Amino acid sequence: MTDDDLIAAARDAAEHSYSPYSDFAVGAALRFADGSVVTGTNIENASYGPALCAETVAVSKAMADGVRGGLEVVAVTGPGTAPITPCGRCRQVLNELAQLGGTDPEILCVGPDSVRRVRLSQLLPDAFGPASLV
Ligand code: THU
Repeated sequence: MTDDDLIAAARDAAEHSYSPYSDFAVGAALRFADGSVVTGTNIENASYGPALCAETVAVSKAMADGVRGGLEVVAVTGPGTAPITPCGRCRQVLNELAQLGGTDPEILCVGPDSVRRVRLSQLLPDAFGPASLV
């Protein structure tokens, strides 16, 4: 799957966003070393606080299926006017899965007419992760 395909998969995932409170539909697509792709979208809640971000949903789906590492590329899409970057909590959640496999995934922050490419380590320098506990 190409990066463009991954971005399309994230956009498709955002079609299932449950975001009636923010009206801000986010999509995420994770690509792994074996070529597999896992998607997620944001799921909000009437109590607001329990809202789940798209990236967190995607990581949770992957890990619930037994995936532990191999994370190479992450595409994130949103409806805003600028490329969307993962929130702080999602950076930490992505870092957990990345560190398990010793990768520093490329994050494709997708905007309406441009894609910003950054490494997770740029978004979350000096990250605290599984290796920090040993
Ligand atoms: N959101 C994400 O899904 N991912 C992010 O990285 C940033 C924010 C969601 C949370 C909430 O449902 C909506 O976007 C507005 O903040």
